[in-house]
Amino acid sequence: AAGDAAKGQTIVTNVCSACHGVDGNSVVAMYPKLAGQHPEYITKQLMNFKSGDRKNAIMGGMVAALSPEDMENLGAYFGSQTPKTDTAKSNGPGSIGEKIYKGGIPGIGVPACASCHGPAGAGIPVQFPRLGGQHSEYIVTQLKAFGSYERANDGAKMMRMIASKLSEQDMAAVADYIQGL
Ligand code: HEM
Ligand code: HEM
Repeated sequence: AAGDAAKGQTIVTNVCSACHGVDGNSVVAMYPKLAGQHPEYITKQLMNFKSGDRKNAIMGGMVAALSPEDMENLGAYFGSQTPKTDTAKSNGPGSIGEKIYKGGIPGIGVPACASCHGPAGAGIPVQFPRLGGQHSEYIVTQLKAFGSYERANDGAKMMRMIASKLSEQDMAAVADYIQGL
């Protein structure tokens, strides 16, 4: 990636680590893990927060002081960190969560998550984010935000169609499965 990870690390240590962890493996479920995420995806989300295309009160404040170069450096740093795995509470192998992730819900036109986010949740650079090991609570929050069109940044178009078809039960099941990936 274009960014300078060492410069990104300085900002993370001083600012972002309070919520996302020093190595991007946040421990609090409402703060997303960023370790191992594609640098380009991170940079783009930061630009989306800054332009207001993705709205969040906390992150809107965080990006105010960041330059485009800082955003690339932050992407490079978080992307170079090793993601910590987690476990699913009840949606392991053979569960409804796995079924949705790997096969979608054909009857209502929900495609398989794996087709864009990868069978092991690693995502596909640069457009499709890594999801594996992410906190299920954060995932459910994002699925609801896509479904209600509250998260309406450019890349979110594909997700809006999908999430608006998922019930709360579907969201909880697939998010739990993803947490365990
Ligand atoms: C989301 C980066 C500081 C709380 C995000 C995302 C990125 C990011 C890239 C989107 C993740 C994704 O789409 O998977 C950063 C950077 C920071 C920083 C580079 C330092 C400059 C903080 C701090 C807090 C925080 C200090 C807590 C006070 C959150 C929350 C979200 C988030 C709550 C989820 C927003 C939503 O629901 O849309 N952050 N963050 N961040 N961050 Fe930060
Ligand atoms: C983003 C879940 C299927 C394309 C996301 C995010 C979640 C998610 C939670 C936000 C990640 C974050 O904030 O860190 C799911 C689930 C799926 C699914 C549970 C299956 C039910 C798909 C499919 C596609 C896709 C089939 C491609 C056609 C994308 C893209 C983004 C995204 C492009 C990034 C949006 C942006 O740029 O802000 N997905 N996804 N997803 N997903 Fe999916």
